[in-house]
Amino acid sequence: MPMRHKDLLGLEYLERDEIELVLDTAVPMKEIFTRDIRKLPTLRGKTMVNLFYEPSTRTRTSFELAGKWMSADVTNIATSTSSVAKGESLKDTARTLEALGANFVVIRHQMAGAPHLVARTVKASVVNAGDGRHEHPTQALLDLFTIRERLGRIEGLKVAIVGDILHSRVARSNIWGLAKLGAHVTVCGPRTLIPPDVSRMGAEVTCDLREALADADVVNVLRLQLERQKKGLFPSIREYSDLYGITRERVEKCKPGVLILHPGPANLGVEITEEVAESPNAAVHQQVTNGVACRMAVLYLLSGGGRPGEVVA
Ligand code: CP
Repeated sequence: MPMRHKDLLGLEYLERDEIELVLDTAVPMKEIFTRDIRKLPTLRGKTMVNLFYEPSTRTRTSFELAGKWMSADVTNIATSTSSVAKGESLKDTARTLEALGANFVVIRHQMAGAPHLVARTVKASVVNAGDGRHEHPTQALLDLFTIRERLGRIEGLKVAIVGDILHSRVARSNIWGLAKLGAHVTVCGPRTLIPPDVSRMGAEVTCDLREALADADVVNVLRLQLERQKKGLFPSIREYSDLYGITRERVEKCKPGVLILHPGPANLGVEITEEVAESPNAAVHQQVTNGVACRMAVLYLLSGGGRPGEVVA
C-alpha cells in the first residue's frame, strides 16, 4: 500500500495506518546500515532537491543520504547563495525546481505553511523538513520508530514532552503522532512556553516537572529555542535549567529503564546534561541513525512503493 498523499506535510494529516506503514517500512530500510555497499535501486532516475531556508545538520544530511542510498540524484540548495538572495519568491523557486525535473522537494522554512504552498505549486512530492512552529513530521516519525525499537510498542505508553512547547514544531508533530498511535502524552514546561491549543491535540498539560516525570515511560526533551526566544518568557536560562533541566538526579527518580529522547541539537547543560544525553537511557544517536531509515521509508512510499516486505532487494 503506498501513501495516500502526494506530499508529507504533517502528522496531523496522516491516519494511524499510514504512520504505522512508514514505521514498518523503515525496519527493512535500517538493514542497509549493516551492508558493505549501501545502495538500493529504488529511486533510480528520480531527482530530489533539498531546499533549506534554515540551518540543519541532521535533517538535511539524512535526507541526502536517504536519497543517495536509494540511487536518487540529490541536489542541495543553499538559499544564501541561490536566487532567493536576489528576491526570488518561494513560488518562483518551486516552479524553477519543477522545470529542472525535481521529483521530490524537501523543504525547511521559517514560515509555517511554506511546504503547503510549494505542494500546491508543483507536481513533485513535497516533504516538510520543518516549517516555523508548525510541524516537523519526519522528526516525529523517527522518534516514534525509536520508541518502538527500544520499548517494543507505543500504544499505552506515557510520554512526557518537556521544554519549550510553544516554539516547537517537534512537539506538535510528536503530539499528533503519539496520540494517533495510542500513547498518553503530557507536555511540561513554564506556563509561558505552552501554547493554548495543545489540549485540543490530545495532550495533558503540567508545569510541574516532577509530576510529568513520575510515571513517564519516555521523556522527550526539547531544545530551548534560544534563537526564537523573545525576551521575558522565562526569567533566565539558569532558572529554566534549575526547574526543567533533565539531570541524572531527576532521571534516577523516574521509572527504571525510562527512555530519554532529544531531537538535537541540544543545549547541553541547559535542557539536558551531557551525562544524561550520553547515558544508556538516552537514544540521541540512535534517533539520528533511525532518521535515515525513516526518511528512506517516506521517500519510498511517496514514490509509490508498496508493502514493507518488498522494500529491500
Ligand atoms: N532535529 C533536527 O531537526 O536537527 P537539525 O536542525 O540538525 O536538522
